[in-house]
Amino acid sequence: MRVLSSASEVFPLVKTGGMADVVGALPKALSPHGVETRTLIPGYPGVLAACRDLVSVLDLPLLGEDARVLQGRHEGLDLLILDCPALYRRGGGPYLDESGTDHHDNWKRFAALSLATARIAADGIEGWRPDITHLHDWQTALAICYMRSMGLAVPAVLTIHNLAFQGQFSTEVFHALGLPASLLDVNCLEYYGDISFLKGGIALSDAVTTVSPTYAREIMTEGLGMGMEGILFTRKEALRGILNGIDQTIWDPAQDPHIPAGYDTRTLARRRENRRTVERQFGLIENDRPIVSVVSRLTWQKGIDLLAPVVPGIVDRGAKLVIFGEGDPAIAYPLLEQARQYPGQVVMHIGYSEPGAHLLHAGSDIILQPSRFEPCGLTQLYALRYGAIPVVARTGGLAETIIDANEAAMEARVATGFQFQPGSIEDLYHALDRALAAFDRPVFWRRLQSQAMKADFGWGRSAGRYAELYRELVTANTNRIS
Ligand code: ADP
Ligand code: GLC
Repeated sequence: MRVLSSASEVFPLVKTGGMADVVGALPKALSPHGVETRTLIPGYPGVLAACRDLVSVLDLPLLGEDARVLQGRHEGLDLLILDCPALYRRGGGPYLDESGTDHHDNWKRFAALSLATARIAADGIEGWRPDITHLHDWQTALAICYMRSMGLAVPAVLTIHNLAFQGQFSTEVFHALGLPASLLDVNCLEYYGDISFLKGGIALSDAVTTVSPTYAREIMTEGLGMGMEGILFTRKEALRGILNGIDQTIWDPAQDPHIPAGYDTRTLARRRENRRTVERQFGLIENDRPIVSVVSRLTWQKGIDLLAPVVPGIVDRGAKLVIFGEGDPAIAYPLLEQARQYPGQVVMHIGYSEPGAHLLHAGSDIILQPSRFEPCGLTQLYALRYGAIPVVARTGGLAETIIDANEAAMEARVATGFQFQPGSIEDLYHALDRALAAFDRPVFWRRLQSQAMKADFGWGRSAGRYAELYRELVTANTNRIS
């Protein structure tokens, strides 16, 4: 089974969030299931600089721009890199320019990536032809529209990592996409007077997956459907949730090059050294009081604005708080003020670094995730593996991966963290209060840590589900054609 996976980011080459981790880990996890994946990504400057021995395999004019596809391998991934200098060789990040605003031509940048996906699906590359395409989020969702407008029957799976990003643009760009006018329809691309690449993908894909079963249900409701609940409901039969896994070789506390002291469930005491390093690196008071960390994009989705009201309570209990991330300055501001007010106890570190994230998981006692919605969430899964107890909002993937440490769950030896009602400051404080009280009971805490570390969220189970889905769709397609 050959899969063409197409995405705007992939770990370790380019990452703004969890989607990159998933796109990077899935091919390795699928390989034991007999699935061979090639991953198509844009040739951003960082990607071209990091990859060696690239071979040009296809010239491909796209939407009036010169482009070519380069092929190569990088850290176990088979890559196809879409090199289109006019669209991708520039400063800034994958979506934002240097000033932090969207690249003005994002519609074209990701329509081109989608069109390249469709062309490769149609013609193959040097004899390699995919049996199925796997598209990720709005940036590649339009590929299915191109494929169907070419009359190409290769099945497509669209994975929604985050419904908040919908690829919404003015209808004025529609004519430049080169798609048939029939697709500018309320049942396909048309979206409240604009067009949405994601909606086109939802309408036409053979299967739509989300990154947790809970989120698959939630997005068919008005509360979390973000305007797409209607079209998603019409695709109910094609919609399913497959929980994300984590790459347990990259996130392994026993062999993590980013942390000073490796450990496992039997050598948990070694975490102490990582705690000290966190205290020193982040400028916290050095003592044995609990370290609560937030490693996250600083956005409304992540509920970061809910933190400021609970900070005095954390400080009063002698606990320490580290907030590490990048995002919305208006959301960060009140916390920066509090960091000034409580030096050594509250630290706000604006930045993004993989080693920093690894260290915080290895040296914090509690990882807090107050998300308003969370399609899956990877941070809590990394926290489990590193024995940092997750305190999470009961939503999406957080709800189904963390088992609240209530009495029954502790007795059954399955509890792994603490949950609270999303959006509720009172309930967030209550959950934190329970976690901080539990920290003061060393035997209880040790048991919770060990249960957390034993929870298995590797890719094993979920990769099998994707492989099964691919096979189902390819078989259905073969039956349809013959
Ligand atoms: P999302 O994709 O919505 O941001 P996830 O929990 O799925 O949420 O994934 C977030 C990813 O980004 C994780 O791999 C996490 O470690 C990483 N991350 C978040 N903030 C930072 C940061 N400040 N530095 C490094 N990595 C970060
Ligand atoms: C998105 C979601 C996050 C999910 C990630 C990977 O960024 O916000 O919940 O874990 O994609 O699928």
